[in-house]
Amino acid sequence: MSKEYISKNIVLIGMSGSGKTVVGQFLSKKLNMKLIDTDDIIVLNSKKTIPYIFSQYGEKKFRDLESKVIDDLSSETGIIISTGGGVVLNKKNIYLLKKKGVLFFLKANMDTLVKNIESSSQTHRPLLENNKSLGDRIRNIYKKRKELYISSADYIVKVDRKSVEEIGEEIIYILNK
Ligand code: S3P
Repeated sequence: MSKEYISKNIVLIGMSGSGKTVVGQFLSKKLNMKLIDTDDIIVLNSKKTIPYIFSQYGEKKFRDLESKVIDDLSSETGIIISTGGGVVLNKKNIYLLKKKGVLFFLKANMDTLVKNIESSSQTHRPLLENNKSLGDRIRNIYKKRKELYISSADYIVKVDRKSVEEIGEEIIYILNK
């Protein structure tokens, strides 16, 4: 592993269910780097759950809290940052993350996203809670964000039909190149 990359941050971006958290955990263990999950920090700082923030204060408030976390992290180096799926909606977030980090877009197809979200027990995704089918919700959100993920990423890692280990090792391989 080159020193340059260890001193940079590894930033994971992508839709809910693309595997940012589990891949972040794998990389954290394997590379012995601290993992920061921006959603966790928002909950910790505000002492409120994400659905509560959305329902009581609205999405804009959540996005402001998210941007504040990114801003606070912008001077850190040598950490892994697992971001919330909507981080790409704000250009400044990406600008700040890129200053010290290499951005990996975990690119998944609809089947993978639906499967992963359905099998996860997490309840921090108010945007996906709605009467519409999960597939439709994800498709709508992804349509709006796809170009942002692609243009924000330094590298795109396809995750379909790959294990967490395979995805993590691919990222490490890219970092070592
Ligand atoms: C969001 C994704 C969630 C969380 C919040 C908003 C989004 O994080 O930040 O519910 O806008 O896609 P995950 O990507 O970890 O699910």
